[in-house]
Amino acid sequence: MPRGPSSRAPNDPNAEGRRPPRPKGLPLIGSLASLLRGQFRFLEQVFADEGAIFELKLGPLTALVVGDAEAADEVLITRADRYDKGGEFWDSARELLGHGIGASEGELWRRQHKLMLPSFRRAAISGYRGMIDETVSSALDAVKVDAPIEFDQWSNDLLSVLTVRILLGTNLPLEQIREVRESMSALFATVLPEMVLRKLPRWLPRPGRGRLAAARERVDNALMAVIADKRERGPGEDLLSMLVNATDEAGAMSDEQLRDEAIFIYTAGFETTGASLAWTTLLLAQHPELLAALREELDGDGDDKPLLRACIQEGLRLYPPGVMVPRRAVADDVLGGFRVKAGTLVLVYSWLIHRDPRWWPSPARFDPARFMDAEAARARPRLAWSPFGAGQRICLGKGLALLELERALTQLLTRFTPVVVDDGAPPQPRMSTTLKSDKPIRLMLRRRA
Ligand code: HEM
Repeated sequence: MPRGPSSRAPNDPNAEGRRPPRPKGLPLIGSLASLLRGQFRFLEQVFADEGAIFELKLGPLTALVVGDAEAADEVLITRADRYDKGGEFWDSARELLGHGIGASEGELWRRQHKLMLPSFRRAAISGYRGMIDETVSSALDAVKVDAPIEFDQWSNDLLSVLTVRILLGTNLPLEQIREVRESMSALFATVLPEMVLRKLPRWLPRPGRGRLAAARERVDNALMAVIADKRERGPGEDLLSMLVNATDEAGAMSDEQLRDEAIFIYTAGFETTGASLAWTTLLLAQHPELLAALREELDGDGDDKPLLRACIQEGLRLYPPGVMVPRRAVADDVLGGFRVKAGTLVLVYSWLIHRDPRWWPSPARFDPARFMDAEAARARPRLAWSPFGAGQRICLGKGLALLELERALTQLLTRFTPVVVDDGAPPQPRMSTTLKSDKPIRLMLRRRA
């Protein structure tokens, strides 16, 4: 069990604070190799040995890992003014992905948030329900039945087609979407390594950068043409039309800002929800008794589906697609009794927070009942479950993602039974910018009688 701050001095930003523990690493690179290899086991071991807050040396960088729900609350909510999106991670994200809402700060973020919020409110989201149901239904009509499929690939295809449809209002051919997706995923996957590489001399070769820049240019050009078309057509039902027509006292967003928002929404929207659908379906296939209970609920009358909601929440607990939320300390602080110097890279690690045995007994077990017990939920700190982040910068697409997951799982499980394909050890999560698996998630979909 990690030694959490509850067993240490209370958090007091004016107190001195001790130096955070640091695991032994290799000279020069520290723990970088273990982290880049995507080793959750390594992080979990440090969490168990050193406590819920520790320092990691990552080559030229040092990061403070926060795996404690109460300290996370301070970083993201109560003392959020001491933590921003500056520093290596966000600088490299902006360089690669542009200045979309999730990567912006200060005045720009405030303006964009105000302009974009109405398009993500409940009323707007329920307008996407028809598009979601239709897209899921055609994907299921075309799926290969009674034979092993790479379900994570299928679910990524589904979510990228769906995200493009919600964003642009059109059904682009899958081949075209795959090309954009590969370019965007490649760019996104470069953010973490780039954050370290930025510290190294510029003359060092960076393989693949030219190819990535060309891919980004293709996506940019295509989007600028779509934005010009949307401006001409006026109001529409799709998300981008809503953003094109959103105005405040300073007028509408510029074409460049709209392009960056579209890129951010696409990148933030499909890979995360796609990963969550794949992992949750795998978990249900591995637990046939839970699947049977869920089926009963889905086949029953009534709109309220508490077990479905709990399965999605538990899937997001065990496999939070965002893995961690990075910040930079802009002022000195003390978290859980440990000092944090201004400038420190702080990684709020939902992966670790979601496995803290103080809040999640037998944390590795898939047990949706945890979310159906109101008393247990009240006893947990509010950030013990935080796959969507928290505070002002909480995921804007949270409601949409949950609706997509609910509708996709309902149709999938009403029509098919997912069955695990036995081909050796089950897929293990692998850390990347979003959560991946070390091998394809292979499932067989059996048609229900
Ligand atoms: C299961 C699916 C999803 C997960 C786990 C997830 C997770 C997150 C997390 C952790 C953040 C906060 C990052 C931070 O504070 O640094 C975030 C921000 C954001 N997400 Fe999501 N997300 C999901 C789906 C979506 C979808 C479907 C969309 C839109 C279509 C979306 C759009 C955004 C936006 C725009 C932000 C930036 C908000 C801001 O900075 O004001 N996300 N997401």
